[in-house]
Amino acid sequence: MNDPNGMVYLDGVFHLLFQYNPGDSVWGDIHWGHATSRDLLNWEEQPVALASEPDGLGMIFSGGAVVDGENTSGFQRGDRPPLVATFTHHDKHEVQVQSLAVSTDGGQSWEKYPHNPVIANPGIKDFRDPKVIWHRAGGHWVMVLAVGDRVHFYRSGDLKDWALAGEFGRTRGAHGGVWECPDLFPLPVPDGKERWCLLVSINPGGPNGGSATQYFIGDFDGEAFVPEHEDIRWLDYGTDNYAGVTWDGLQRVDDRRLLIGWMSNWQYANKVPTSLWRGAMTIPRELSLYRDRDTLRLANGPAREVDKARRRVAAMQLRAGNSISPPGDSALDLVLKIGEAPELELEFSTGIGERLLLALSAERGELLVDRRESGWMEEGFGCEISAPLVHGLHRDSELRILIDGSSMEIFIDGGKTALTALFFSSEPLSRMALRRTASAAVPLALYRL
Ligand code: FRU
Repeated sequence: MNDPNGMVYLDGVFHLLFQYNPGDSVWGDIHWGHATSRDLLNWEEQPVALASEPDGLGMIFSGGAVVDGENTSGFQRGDRPPLVATFTHHDKHEVQVQSLAVSTDGGQSWEKYPHNPVIANPGIKDFRDPKVIWHRAGGHWVMVLAVGDRVHFYRSGDLKDWALAGEFGRTRGAHGGVWECPDLFPLPVPDGKERWCLLVSINPGGPNGGSATQYFIGDFDGEAFVPEHEDIRWLDYGTDNYAGVTWDGLQRVDDRRLLIGWMSNWQYANKVPTSLWRGAMTIPRELSLYRDRDTLRLANGPAREVDKARRRVAAMQLRAGNSISPPGDSALDLVLKIGEAPELELEFSTGIGERLLLALSAERGELLVDRRESGWMEEGFGCEISAPLVHGLHRDSELRILIDGSSMEIFIDGGKTALTALFFSSEPLSRMALRRTASAAVPLALYRL
């Protein structure tokens, strides 16, 4: 599997559809797989939602889904609002067009719209990944679409007829690769009116090589997006959080924007050493805007469902030279109180000499993960991954590390700085040592999920 798709919430159920090759563990013959969850952690796989049409419109590339609460599309049958998915058809001549699929049973089954495509290809090679949102102020739908290394905005009243309304990106953002999987949504600002956030994944051209997701904060009037900053900003500096987008529909009952990303990188996604399956998602993350030294930034920390599900197994004061082997074998959630001036180095290791290093230095303003001795290392995987500390630390600053099988998701202060990285050691990294710290001791709480 690769990208998350069609993320929509209705009646207590989170739907997560995804790029899926049912016949192989490398990319190809892409369908939309489907999984559902009520708590965002336990997922039940459902039958394939949308099958590829090899001799017709083609594979089912990425896109989103919305709850059409007012039945603007006229697709409703029965009591439940229709769910409308927008996706890219990619045919054998590599022509990309935008299409619809509809669920009238609350997301359980999906049917392609018989009059697909709804947006024809204007003669552009990379023209894909439509994500739709209801624009409340304008009273219409907006689609954001990745086009080359820009995004285009379309508008519609009924999700079927779309008109091009604007574009963004020519002079802003990172352009080291093609733009993919955009998302667009408003978020509240701590002390005032809302702002619009635009997420754009880019491949290659990420801050640590290969694919990564950049974001913009600004204003959007339904046609034009005006960013309020010139600098390039990354949602997550790690190598392994890509194509993340957010759930639609949740905002009808709960004012949260939750994101899930694909936990891999096109640099090595088809090669990583797993068997039977390949590909996983990040844990769900809540997006929020925060103000730091006069600048608005976007944080992505673990959703509160993760906090609810974890249980504490130990708490201790860790001194330089101490090492621990946390009991249990489910996902580990470590919280370290780092304070405002951390200088520390953690080593996670197997019993057979493989290790992953994490170094955090306030002085250098950097969080670093070194996976050069962590096991599997092909395709440039054995590298150092660096994140600048994008926000200012304070007395109560916390470093949180989620380790699940072969992934590490690192958050400082609820995801103000985030770094996600895969690793493939031949045995679990069951030992953790504090190799160095500038403080007398580091308070640590250990949880299992
Ligand atoms: C991003 C992406 C999308 C495309 C899909 C194909 O990872 O390249 O742009 O729709 O994957 O699987």
